[in-house]
Amino acid sequence: MEVPDLRAGAEYWHYRYTKGFTEWQLEKVYPMLIKHYEKMNPNGKAERVFYPMCGMSLDMNWLVDQGVSVVGVEIAQQALETFISKSNHNWTISHDPELDTATKMFIRNDGKMKLYCADIQEFSPEIEGKFDAIYDRGSLQFVQPGNVSRYSQVLKDLLKPGGRILLEVVEYDPKILEDKTLDLPMKVPPPYTMNSEDIKRLFEPDCSVERVETYKSDRFLGENVDFHVHLIIKI
Ligand SMILES: C[S@@+](CC[C@H](N)C(=O)[O-])C[C@H]1O[C@@H](n2cnc3c(N)ncnc32)[C@H](O)[C@@H]1O
Repeated sequence: MEVPDLRAGAEYWHYRYTKGFTEWQLEKVYPMLIKHYEKMNPNGKAERVFYPMCGMSLDMNWLVDQGVSVVGVEIAQQALETFISKSNHNWTISHDPELDTATKMFIRNDGKMKLYCADIQEFSPEIEGKFDAIYDRGSLQFVQPGNVSRYSQVLKDLLKPGGRILLEVVEYDPKILEDKTLDLPMKVPPPYTMNSEDIKRLFEPDCSVERVETYKSDRFLGENVDFHVHLIIKI
């Protein structure tokens, strides 16, 4: 199988799931979510959380355990099928007439989770309404630069006034990516480095942007890899 480029979109992600190159996948809930969940959900008031580019993240189960319902969007059907195959719940598979007819929708039978196999760039409030909160981990930095502003607009449109986004980005020296000896699967950071200024440019002035934490981790190659966590509130 020829190795596709990130610009190949769904084909690239299909390749990674087929080869098992899913090194972002954790077998536990992401610690940042547990630590900062209350900020995106003040006073336990959020009822519906949107998770763009959700993959097969276990964070979705944890969110439901906190009492919210989750809508996720993921382009790779394999990711959703794997997630569902490991679930202790029954699911119904359906289609959404608002989206492309090929698009599948997986609905957990207790109604607490709905996962769309679709392109996030095509998602809009007409499909599932607006949300109290959005959780963005491992998403934004995989969007190609030409689509990033459209992506942030999709998120802003999906948020109710006063709604909150918990969003993490990783900042690193892009020279790491010039090392041609690197191959998948390795601790390669997301393809596009981002910092808080980038997040402000994308979300202000429709939203306020606050950086709530910066931490370091050896999860990726390279010195000085900073993880920045933001709380974004729609005005
Ligand atoms: C790095 S993974 C992160 C997955 C998940 N957020 C997590 O933290 O475990 C990025 C995910 O985005 C999905 N994806 C990529 N482009 C997408 C698009 N245009 N629409 C929806 N999902 C997309 C990929 O298939 C992949 O599952």
